[in-house]
Amino acid sequence: MTSNPYPLGLRLHGRRVVVVGGGAVATRRVPALLDAGADVLLVAPELTPALRARADAGRLHWVPRRFVPEDLDGAWLVQVAIDDPIAAASVSAVAAERRIFCVRADDRTAATAWTPAVTRHGPVTVAVLGGGDPRRAMTVRDAIRDLLAVRLAPDGTAPTRSRPDGATGGPPAGRVALVGAGPGDPELITVKGWRLLTEADVVVADRLVPGLLLDELRPDVELVDASKIPYGPSRAQEEINQILVDRALAGAFVVRLKGGDPYVFGRGGEELLACAAAGVPVTVVPGVTSSIAAPAAAGIPVTHRGVAHEFTVVSGHVAPDSPASLVRWEAMAGLRGTLVILMGLKNLAAITATLIAHGRSPQTPAAVVQEATTGTQRVLRSTLGEVAADLLAADLRPPAVVVVGDVVGALDG
Ligand SMILES: C[S@@+](CC[C@H](N)C(=O)[O-])C[C@H]1O[C@@H](n2cnc3c(N)ncnc32)[C@H](O)[C@@H]1O
Repeated sequence: MTSNPYPLGLRLHGRRVVVVGGGAVATRRVPALLDAGADVLLVAPELTPALRARADAGRLHWVPRRFVPEDLDGAWLVQVAIDDPIAAASVSAVAAERRIFCVRADDRTAATAWTPAVTRHGPVTVAVLGGGDPRRAMTVRDAIRDLLAVRLAPDGTAPTRSRPDGATGGPPAGRVALVGAGPGDPELITVKGWRLLTEADVVVADRLVPGLLLDELRPDVELVDASKIPYGPSRAQEEINQILVDRALAGAFVVRLKGGDPYVFGRGGEELLACAAAGVPVTVVPGVTSSIAAPAAAGIPVTHRGVAHEFTVVSGHVAPDSPASLVRWEAMAGLRGTLVILMGLKNLAAITATLIAHGRSPQTPAAVVQEATTGTQRVLRSTLGEVAADLLAADLRPPAVVVVGDVVGALDG
């Protein structure tokens, strides 16, 4: 007769868990045990490199031999992660004798405990058992994970007009998260960035932020379009800083959503300093930067074995001969690797001429990637000598990234 399993949450901190086997299954099981704080004893003649690294780092104890019954001395749980059924049965027989629960990778029906499919949201852990069918458990787990990603805040609470610090009394405590939204494809935001977005009371968004992300905000979220703030660039930045600080001090959780990565030509540092000066706590969530993603989306790796051992990201928004330029373009010309230029279209003719004048070959492959990772992406392939003219002829426009270097053709067949 089969009975239903009885679910438990094991509190393993500091408790001995024995893992028998050092292959792929153990590699998958051990991180969650370590995350739970378990005192892991790994018994296996050999380990995968990932497990070896953890053993070398002192995160677990490894005994490099086959299992002996004494290995279970002091154990609370044993995970058998070997596929030899006879050896596995002998471990589970010793475990049964000692009343230690035993998970078996080779034979779930012979195990005294099953590991569930798990999804974690802050302090909330959802564990799904699929009646002995791990695929069913994973399918259900994935569906629950998707629901929770939308409905739960990262701390596991429902995203009401939030009290992010979890406090129950006193004045409301707001905070700000500087979140990188990625280069354009809404799926390229990080999981953490997405979760914070679903929790926000106020979202202050840049022009280059993927529109679809904003489409999915709750209706009660206040959306501030930072690109519509009037005045010049520095005044507008002051206004944005003030909005972040004011809303947070009024108790809101404010997500400042920025294209790419907040700290790559994103003025994220200024916003962080303004919040810090006002005593507003800030979380920074890095994003996928267009400086790497745009070349990648056009089939160009920024580094490639035997081709480029460096990549340099520069802003081209100030002309090379301007006293305001902070870039040593003559030094850039001397580099052999990849040069990625953001905000460089307007000054491209001057930039390429400067690079060539200081020694970079006009034959160096170059590419321009416009609106990378979106449905309207365009790619132009050219050379350093021709790219500025080709760009005009093709009528490419910002936002675009210019890539210079032999990597441009590295993956061409
Ligand atoms: C103010 S900078 C911000 C960069 C952003 N923080 C990042 O990490 O990608 C704006 C410039 O980034 C580049 N850019 C941003 N998104 C892009 C995209 N989807 N395709 C091509 N270039 C992009 C362009 O050079 C644009 O002028």
